Amino acid sequence: MPFPVQRPRRLRRNECFRRLVRETILTPDDLILPLFAIGGTGIKNPIESMPGQYQLSPDNVAKTARKAFDLGIPAVILFGIPDDKDAVGSGAYAAGGIVQQAVKAVKNAVPELIVITDVCLCEYTDHGHCGVIAGQSVDNDATLSLLAQTAVSQVNAGADMVAPSDMMDGRVAAIRTALDVDGFSQIPIMAYAAKYCSSYYGPFRSAVDSAPRFGDRRTYQMDPANTDEAMREVALDVAEGADIIMVKPALAFLDIIHRVREAIDLPVAAYNVSGEYAMIKAAEKLGWIDGHRVMLETLTAIKRAGADMILTYFALDAARTLNE
Ligand code: PBG
Ligand code: ZN
Repeated sequence: MPFPVQRPRRLRRNECFRRLVRETILTPDDLILPLFAIGGTGIKNPIESMPGQYQLSPDNVAKTARKAFDLGIPAVILFGIPDDKDAVGSGAYAAGGIVQQAVKAVKNAVPELIVITDVCLCEYTDHGHCGVIAGQSVDNDATLSLLAQTAVSQVNAGADMVAPSDMMDGRVAAIRTALDVDGFSQIPIMAYAAKYCSSYYGPFRSAVDSAPRFGDRRTYQMDPANTDEAMREVALDVAEGADIIMVKPALAFLDIIHRVREAIDLPVAAYNVSGEYAMIKAAEKLGWIDGHRVMLETLTAIKRAGADMILTYFALDAARTLNE
């Protein structure tokens, strides 16, 4: 029945009506805060292209993690900036590696908080690729055991969940098997399943100095033009034992989040990546947008598209607002 019987504005008349009919409610429960760990103590180096984000020594990672937990955020995800890099990314699976140190610091300070670790080699390899190199390309099968070793080492340090972001074929199965063999069958895997070869990772790569020194990541990360392929990647990771499926980046891939949400019955995560954060921060700094409102609109859109949880550098800011 059209106008004048139907008047959609009736239910938008005031804030109470709008609250009553609101379909998507963002809460701190939805948020995961990424943190960057670097060696030393008392270190807090600002990351230029990510205003408000820092390279933090383990003591400061723990302090920020405590802040997140107190704001109602259930989880953090840790990335590492090692002192030294080599061809095989040894720093990723060293017992005393930077992420392992940071995990211990956080678990000591805030035992209840979920500590997720990113499983990849690119922060630790001197060539900047996510796996080991054979000739001019990344050797998939030779990389799998190193990724599995990395995951086991992070869990040995206390990680509650691992998140492989390398996009090697078969890594979820390799990690699942290695965790189970070592008695960690209760540790879930959050798989970066549909991870695109995106230019939105730029600020992250300068933050951890992980840009590939030659070539690019197009032979392992997905072509942004594809959606059916994302569904095949997701199906494989589900079959290999993933517990949570991630789509990354989020904003330019809301259709993928939506399609994955419709197709599978596992929790879906979306990564609101560094470039998405940087764009909002930059436009805000220029006075061109209301950064705070754009942040909330963006996170709401990602949830509306189908994400059950959002990895975002806005987590602390957003949680503060949502708690008001
Ligand atoms: C490591 C990894 C990357 C990100 C998360 N894990 C970078 C990359 O794949 O080059 C990007 C996160 C961000 O941009 O915020 N493979
Ligand atoms: Zn990587």
